[in-house]
Amino acid sequence: MKKLLITGGAGFIGSNFVRHVVQKSPDYQVTVLDKLTYAGNLTNLDGVLDGARVRFVQGDICDPAIVDPLVREHDAVVNFAAETHVDRSLLNPGAFVQTDVFGTYVLLEACRRAGGTRMVQVSTDEVYGDVPPGTQSLETDRLNPRSPYSASKGGGDLQCLGFFHTYQVPVSITRAANTVGPFQYPEKLVPLMSTNAILGLPLPVYGDGQQVRDWLHASDHCAAIDLVLHRGTPGEVYNVGVGYERPNVEVVELILTELGAPRSLIRHVADRQGHDRRYSLDCQKVRALGWSPTYTFERCIRETARWYAEHRPWWEAIRARVDFQSYYRQNYEHRLQPAAPPA
Ligand SMILES: NC(=O)c1ccc[n+]([C@@H]2O[C@H](COP(=O)([O-])OP(=O)(O)OC[C@H]3O[C@@H](n4cnc5c(N)ncnc54)[C@H](O)[C@@H]3O)[C@@H](O)[C@H]2O)c1
Repeated sequence: MKKLLITGGAGFIGSNFVRHVVQKSPDYQVTVLDKLTYAGNLTNLDGVLDGARVRFVQGDICDPAIVDPLVREHDAVVNFAAETHVDRSLLNPGAFVQTDVFGTYVLLEACRRAGGTRMVQVSTDEVYGDVPPGTQSLETDRLNPRSPYSASKGGGDLQCLGFFHTYQVPVSITRAANTVGPFQYPEKLVPLMSTNAILGLPLPVYGDGQQVRDWLHASDHCAAIDLVLHRGTPGEVYNVGVGYERPNVEVVELILTELGAPRSLIRHVADRQGHDRRYSLDCQKVRALGWSPTYTFERCIRETARWYAEHRPWWEAIRARVDFQSYYRQNYEHRLQPAAPPA
């Protein structure tokens, strides 16, 4: 396999994956197809986008006129393109259905028409919904998405399975845990808290902060996707997690420690609607393929927080944009208002 189409490759994990491929597989050619939504950023590809080994096409995965010829020119597709932020899905669910469900269908249909192009669909542990303490999600578990984001991702996953069983499109799915690392748009928990801490702003922690997530470094996530692309079985789903289950507030405290910022910056604010309490993955299947994580929990969070401290111009440019500021105001301004005194 030599030619990879990486959709959503100007986003967070996609751009890390492009770097991973460039370093690990020097004989590969990569095309990044990305719409450049608010979350897409060509500077994420600085140093790798050379127009030869790695070239860029701006376009929408929902548009068959762009997708079909590109898929025909490539040996495999790895789909990172998605609307990805749960809070935004509460404000504008339609965009999520459009890209995460319909866009996935357009890619699958192009793979089918091209004669059965290999595809990996990058999905999330959130499709399993809230997981009670003491249990873990298996790949065969019923999907139980509880936000417009996870419902849309679940819809994309089901399209993949439908295209595999009906048309034998050789697609595999990865469902990974919360991922952190360089180039994550600063609306997500770790970059938001890191950049707010650096700026001395309050850190809005939803509810009691006891929502439990597993924490995966982008480089470990990319290695798992690469493995599934090359050694995964078509039609199969692979959970990707580490087992570092920690409450959100503990993650925030570790960021503050790493950045030398005071704990007094934490503000517990009104919780996210429908906020899942816990995700937890059984990952024996991807480990049996040969994957194992390289990051400890502490290193994963601390190194990421440090990256934001050392890359201020990257995120300051994003935070200065109107789209970031209007989203931040819409989601957090009312939550951060001081409570009215009792009447
Ligand atoms: N970040 C996580 O913690 C995490 C965990 C598990 C799975 N995932 C999945 O990994 C994938 C990548 O996530 P991310 O965090 O890098 O997201 P991101 O929001 O940083 O990047 C998404 C990219 O997709 C592009 N895009 C959006 N709509 C598009 C469209 N219609 N056509 C073409 N490009 C489009 C954006 O411009 C952006 O570059 C997503 O599918 C997400 O569901 C993310």
